[in-house]
Amino acid sequence: MQNPTMAIINAIKDQLRQHNYNYYILDDPSIPDAEYDRLMQQLLAIEADFPQWITTDSPSQRVGATPLESFEQVTHAVPMLSLDNAFNGEDLQAFDRRVRERLTKSSNKAIDDIVTYTCEPKLDGIAVSLTYEKGMLVTAATRGDGSRGENITQNIRTLDSVPLSLLGKGWPDILEVRGEVYMPTAGFEALNKKLASNGLKTYVNPRNTAAGSLRQLDSSITATRPLELCAYGVGLVSDDDSLPGQHFDILHQLQSWGFKINDQMRRVQGIEACLDYYQLLASKRASLAYDIDGIVFKVDELELQQSLGFVARAPRWAIAHKFPAQEEMTRLLKVDFQVGRTGAVTPVARLEPVFVGGVTVSNATLHNMDEIQRLGLCLGDTVIIRRAGDVIPKVVKVVQERRCESASPIVAPTSCPVCGGPVLRDDGEAALKCINGLRCSAQIVQAIKHFVSRKAMDIDGLGEKQVQALVDADKIKNVADLYTLDPLALSGMARMGEKSANNLLSALQKSKSTSLAKFLFSLGIREVGEATARSLALYYGCLANIQTADMESLLNVDDVGPVVAQRILHFFANTDTLLVIEKLQSVGVYWPEFDPIEEQAKQESLPFKELCFVVTGTMSSVSRDELKSQLQALGAKVASSVSKKTDYLVAGEKAGSKLTKAQTLQVPVLDESAALAMIASGLQVLEEGVLMPN
Ligand code: IVH
Repeated sequence: MQNPTMAIINAIKDQLRQHNYNYYILDDPSIPDAEYDRLMQQLLAIEADFPQWITTDSPSQRVGATPLESFEQVTHAVPMLSLDNAFNGEDLQAFDRRVRERLTKSSNKAIDDIVTYTCEPKLDGIAVSLTYEKGMLVTAATRGDGSRGENITQNIRTLDSVPLSLLGKGWPDILEVRGEVYMPTAGFEALNKKLASNGLKTYVNPRNTAAGSLRQLDSSITATRPLELCAYGVGLVSDDDSLPGQHFDILHQLQSWGFKINDQMRRVQGIEACLDYYQLLASKRASLAYDIDGIVFKVDELELQQSLGFVARAPRWAIAHKFPAQEEMTRLLKVDFQVGRTGAVTPVARLEPVFVGGVTVSNATLHNMDEIQRLGLCLGDTVIIRRAGDVIPKVVKVVQERRCESASPIVAPTSCPVCGGPVLRDDGEAALKCINGLRCSAQIVQAIKHFVSRKAMDIDGLGEKQVQALVDADKIKNVADLYTLDPLALSGMARMGEKSANNLLSALQKSKSTSLAKFLFSLGIREVGEATARSLALYYGCLANIQTADMESLLNVDDVGPVVAQRILHFFANTDTLLVIEKLQSVGVYWPEFDPIEEQAKQESLPFKELCFVVTGTMSSVSRDELKSQLQALGAKVASSVSKKTDYLVAGEKAGSKLTKAQTLQVPVLDESAALAMIASGLQVLEEGVLMPN
């Protein structure tokens, strides 16, 4: 009979394994994290008392092995092959034709028969092979040269998505599972952010990071890295009858034994459907939570796979259809320094144009001088540019081997490239700053651009070039001067015909009627975005009270912490600023003031008052801004970035990194129609609330 404590230990282990599976494999946790932690603590406590009962597949045994001196070599029982590539639709059609011709020759099929394919994203990571004997993980190895790889068992054991022992039943005595270890984008970005903030070298891309993380001799380092394993096939299988006869079904069988498989995987009929799948995934590429570099198509029937066989190091029954590369090499021609609204002087790389991530790139941000130093970047260097999804292009690495003798250091400017004023670096800040403030024309132009922008005073007809021209011609020195423009002042300005001038003047006139929140936002107070401006307006109800508020009072406002409060105090302490505000009011800019207590009470009764939304992507029936205002009208807060505090992400078409982040943080995602339905039900609650008798 089993010892009772042993029975308890086994029951806890089984529960933990099942919860791991729900969480990491099915992405569908069934208990809160805290409950999981409690179970784990129980297991650790019992194992501490009875160390003789610790088994290698215990959920407590993922970390803790002693660091290795070097990796041992492992010979793969079945070689790990690579794939042929297709770079366009024709290559893919040709692959299908070859498959059908061969199958006809071997009389498995008629030439016109449609072949069933499994379509899988080609994950950009590291191929590994895991060997299970009698259901226990015994060895994990890298691909190496395909015949021999490195033994990385200790490291692989630290991945939560790898079962240490197989779940369920029916597995063969020996089972080799093949798959890709990868690092999801969000984890990669978080890791790089941490490295950069410690002044350390950052990783170029998630793939290199995954490779670096797997090749750690100390598995406790691997354990800190957010790596995942996705299974895409099998190697040696001691008993063929234990697996289904179709590739797609085999992967689902692996899922039931404890492996993660890709949820985008589909089984389709014929090559046209494969091409459709390729297009579909190409459009989803940027919003996936991980990097993919193409699609793998595999003949689904194992019998047909066997009849097709292999050439050299690749199977004839599979092909990788590659996406456009997200990284390319080019040359850094020069570095310009741009001055922003806050005076920050930002280096921008001017590059020899290069096609990367589907577009031609000739500029990339370099952020600040620290970044240039970290990259070790010199003028004339050959660099690697990365453009993934909707993210702005970035210089990720200098190709040292290609450095030429004429490469010269990048020198930080000591004076402002626009106004010639002094440039300083504040303590604790990475950016260089022109301290001339609104005496620097670059900062004036940027401040005016912000003032006229759609979410601020919404004045149509003034692009950067026109603003620059008006500033250069000395016709405006600050935002209030805009309202003194007249047909005479505008006549003769480039890009300003009579019609445009009239349109601009009426846009200016129209903009005079605004709201306190929009006016505050348009002033461009540092750290005061749309949401903070709304909170300030709601809390104070009138401008005078905001101008005279002290630190203590400001800290009572939602979203306002000491840093923001300091910025606000500093802003209103400037007499030049106060003069501009007075002038704006004297030329007729006005907004209704209100009793904040009444307004807050109104807000309190709104149905979405507890909810925080983020809206991203393209909507089809409303604009993103319209959707945001509808949510705000129901009391919701609309933030600009996804965090743990976000209640819902509304994601339209072509949603990018915000969707990825929401998925990682498990923030619920609504599509456009779900969001509109929610708004409709909010409106109903509001109406019913109003109709309800007291
Ligand atoms: S199948 C015999 N499926 O791509 C078939 N490979 O260029 C072998 N990869 O070394 C591979 N996702 O690292 C396959 N769904 C997938 C894959 C995949 C990524 C990688 C794998 C392999 C390389 C081949």
